[in-house]
Amino acid sequence: MIDQYPSLRANWSYPTAVRFGPGRISELPDALKVAGIARPLFVTDPGLVNLPIVTKTLDLLKKANVPVAVFSKVDGNPTLKNLDDGIAAYKAGGHDGVIAFGGGSGMDIGKLVAFQASQARSVFDFEDREDWWTRANSDAIAPIVAVPTTAGTGSEVGRAGVVTDPSDHTKKIIFHPKMLARVVIADPELTLDLPAKITAWTGMDALSHCLESYCSPFFHPLGEGIALEGLRLCKEWLPVAVEDGHNINARAFMLAASSMGAVSFQKGLGAMHSMSHPASSLRGTHHGLTNAVVMPYVLVRNAPAIKERLAALARYLDLPKHTSEAVIDWIVALRKRIGIPHTLKEIGFDTDAVAQAAPMAELDPSTGGNPVPLKAVDYEKLYAAAIAGTL
Ligand SMILES: NC(=O)c1ccc[n+]([C@@H]2O[C@H](COP(=O)([O-])OP(=O)(O)OC[C@H]3O[C@@H](n4cnc5c(N)ncnc54)[C@H](O)[C@@H]3O)[C@@H](O)[C@H]2O)c1
Ligand SMILES: [Fe+2]
Repeated sequence: MIDQYPSLRANWSYPTAVRFGPGRISELPDALKVAGIARPLFVTDPGLVNLPIVTKTLDLLKKANVPVAVFSKVDGNPTLKNLDDGIAAYKAGGHDGVIAFGGGSGMDIGKLVAFQASQARSVFDFEDREDWWTRANSDAIAPIVAVPTTAGTGSEVGRAGVVTDPSDHTKKIIFHPKMLARVVIADPELTLDLPAKITAWTGMDALSHCLESYCSPFFHPLGEGIALEGLRLCKEWLPVAVEDGHNINARAFMLAASSMGAVSFQKGLGAMHSMSHPASSLRGTHHGLTNAVVMPYVLVRNAPAIKERLAALARYLDLPKHTSEAVIDWIVALRKRIGIPHTLKEIGFDTDAVAQAAPMAELDPSTGGNPVPLKAVDYEKLYAAAIAGTL
């Protein structure tokens, strides 16, 4: 056991100011001051808004005399309507910054409200393609304090938000460097009551970020190193977090792994994400769960191209054999242990959706980071395998 430290509390400044540790949500009023926010809009989702972690946080803001309004009309796969409603609330309340509080859904809409509220162009003009972000008026972007309550997306340390475009039903990644939160409060106590299922699904999202970025062919040794350690943390602690939700060590290491996934995926993602995005926008499947289901099928498809890389991963993870097969076996066993279904069919994505999803997957920006180039016809085969459960 190497995950032993005198304290789980630390301040990091990579990639932004992160206040990490149990109980640190109490520092939210100070974090707002540091971020230059006097009148925050608190953005979260409807599942969270009445939970004690939210009511207690609002209480501590009240005690510190911070005037705050709450916006929680955010769907599981956030839509343009959610963003527009959030911007309307932001403007109506005369806010000067956002507390983005939640899982990826709440945090992404929070970040996007801060980004988009004062832009003149449509949000989809700032999709993460080429240098489209330079179209934005960066002086108009409001400051953000991000507070994750799931350990999965790592959106708290990311410079992007994901929102579904109603015109073509695709999930679009909106990117701007200033969408990075000024301050992050990463308090693992906020994740203690996350249900086992959501712990598993979101944890597999963190794992998929680390795995896809580790496997992507681009030159980015920083991202690669972070991804490797993130994978080890997921291997050690995800099953513990699922089985023993109140284990603060497991919650803390998974929260760290989640941020590490998002930092590492600057190196690139891959086919797990390009398959998952269309499934979520067409069939409403949860993002992390979908990644988890397609994971071994994508690994099997990519393995011949990245045999040595996966063997090195197997060594680092101390798997029984140092081979790509051992990595695939580990993923399949982990999925089973934490209750992830083996097929897309079981999560509501069936053959009738493939013809529409496959070309969307080809066009997804994550496709560029996959170790082997994939076209719509390849995605059709991958979807078919993941629906039938044939590895
Ligand atoms: N910005 C990024 O870089 C990035 C990366 C990956 C995914 N995403 C996006 O993030 C979204 C998924 O986020 P997610 O997986 O965190 O799920 P989520 O935010 O949709 O939350 C899932 C559920 O968990 C509940 N929940 C959250 N925290 C809780 C807590 N502490 N206790 C009890 N319940 C809690 C929520 O109310 C919700 O019902 C997707 O839209 C995905 O596209 C964004
Ligand atoms: Fe993801």
